[in-house]
Amino acid sequence: AKIDMAKFAKFCKDNGFIFQSSEIYGGLNGFWDYGPLGVELKRNIKDAWWLDMVRNPPPGPDGQEIRMVGLDCSIIMNPKVWKASGHVEGFSDPMVDCLKCKKRFRADKVHFAAAKIDDATRALSVEADNQTDAEPVLREKIAKLQKKKHPLGALATATDLQFFSASNLPHGYPRPCPSEDCDGTLTEPRAFNLMFESHAGPIASEENKVYLRPETAQGIFANYRNVLNSTRLKLPFGIAQIGKAFRNEINPRNFTFRSREFEQMEIEFFCHPGESMKWYEYWRDLRKRWYSTLGIKSDNLKPREQGTDELAHYSIGTTDIEYLFPFSDEPQELEGVAHRGAFDLNAHAKHSGKVDDLAYFDEELWNNDSQKLATRSFKEWLKGNPTADEIGRYKFVPHVIEPSAGADRFTLAVLCEAYHEDKVPDKDGKLEERIVMRFHPRLAPVKCAIFPLVNKDGMPEKALKLYRELKPLFNVFYDDKGAVGRRYRRQDEIGTPFCVTIDGETMQNDSVTIRERDTIGPDGKPAQRRINLSEVKDVIFKALSP
Ligand code: GAP
Repeated sequence: AKIDMAKFAKFCKDNGFIFQSSEIYGGLNGFWDYGPLGVELKRNIKDAWWLDMVRNPPPGPDGQEIRMVGLDCSIIMNPKVWKASGHVEGFSDPMVDCLKCKKRFRADKVHFAAAKIDDATRALSVEADNQTDAEPVLREKIAKLQKKKHPLGALATATDLQFFSASNLPHGYPRPCPSEDCDGTLTEPRAFNLMFESHAGPIASEENKVYLRPETAQGIFANYRNVLNSTRLKLPFGIAQIGKAFRNEINPRNFTFRSREFEQMEIEFFCHPGESMKWYEYWRDLRKRWYSTLGIKSDNLKPREQGTDELAHYSIGTTDIEYLFPFSDEPQELEGVAHRGAFDLNAHAKHSGKVDDLAYFDEELWNNDSQKLATRSFKEWLKGNPTADEIGRYKFVPHVIEPSAGADRFTLAVLCEAYHEDKVPDKDGKLEERIVMRFHPRLAPVKCAIFPLVNKDGMPEKALKLYRELKPLFNVFYDDKGAVGRRYRRQDEIGTPFCVTIDGETMQNDSVTIRERDTIGPDGKPAQRRINLSEVKDVIFKALSP
């Protein structure tokens, strides 16, 4: 269901999930901060990913154990990395500028309706994600102008009305600015590199130019040999990294969805070229499943195999795992799972000259085969001029499968998915709106709230004792203020899955009431049951285990 994004953003702010960065100075477009609850939520997401993908991935397609290790690379790297990866040349969006108001737009997001009137071509423009969204808005705009008898209203009756984006508008067409209050014209589209630049060292010269990484992936490729040498891993294996990436997006939009600073969770999985399709399918299916196990409804989750026309030139196949965010009618990318072939390792081999370092020698296979050959040394054997195919059996550039996810995008998806508006009667029977965040327990910022029913008769002491026992294990919240119903309400609003109340009976037999937010009892309210104090920890741990 659609949710009102302005109201949702206010909810996120009021409850400490997400704040606008440097808000006291008017904010900065494309930058966001996580508040006290948001930071817990995002940390839980990253921890779940690390646990499920790096420490404990499920067995591979043939039931084998998967070997995964982690890395944490610097954000600024030698700029040659970005030349090799193709980012300096090609990591750009087409952009147009308004000559009058100086606003900048992504060319593929500006759309025109154009037709010939009085022998000249006239056009109207709007900003929209795609042609389908743009067309009705353009038609409405034209209808309004027609009503006002504006000359451009004649577009409505033109027989040759056509729709274009600024990237495919034929050369020489009029390009009016899409801003409502501007009658300026736009430039022709030009490529705008999305990498943020800085300088390493005191002199802001061309030689000192460096880039903030636009993806974490390249740090993994650049360290491929270091990881192999230090771990003695054998193919297939994966290297994972979670970290910040920066892109100077022309139009940051949709809350945190497209930001200029964000965090990625990336895996480069290295495998034998002959087995790469099998591993591509493994990661594609695993990554989709992962989102479902964390509470994303399958109706909202859309894996989409990219068409051959969309694929990056090096990619053999890519699946975008898309999510139907409430701000759009079209599903939007959460993660891309790409089969990158040998593109990256080859590119770094070429640019660094370290051809050997970026290849893989299958020592086990060689040792096996060499027993039948005249020589036991691979180097010796090479001197006999074996063919490239013969060498390739033992020494080759691995293929790479890359599941690349956005931590902030998934955090936004989790917030959207959890958000439920409800109407419940207040004490006078009037319907009152309330919000319940239905987070999966693994992701919930607070796992359990502990309430003494009243602040006397030994209940606070008993409740505090339980609180102190649990807080080294997971995030717990202690609340002794106000009516219990109100305390429950507050926990529902921040998505706490469990509430435990210490009451009179606890003082007699150590039993407590545990309320589970998403288990509905016979009265239609969250189910409550009595368990022993000593069982609380295990009930919660069970819900937190993958
Ligand atoms: N190494 C491959 C790579 O970076 P990508 O599709 O450009 O691929 C991967 O980015 C993921 O990073 C996206 O699926 C998305 O979740 C996240 N991401 C990319 N740009 C983003 C932005 N401007 N704001 C927030 N997340 C972004």
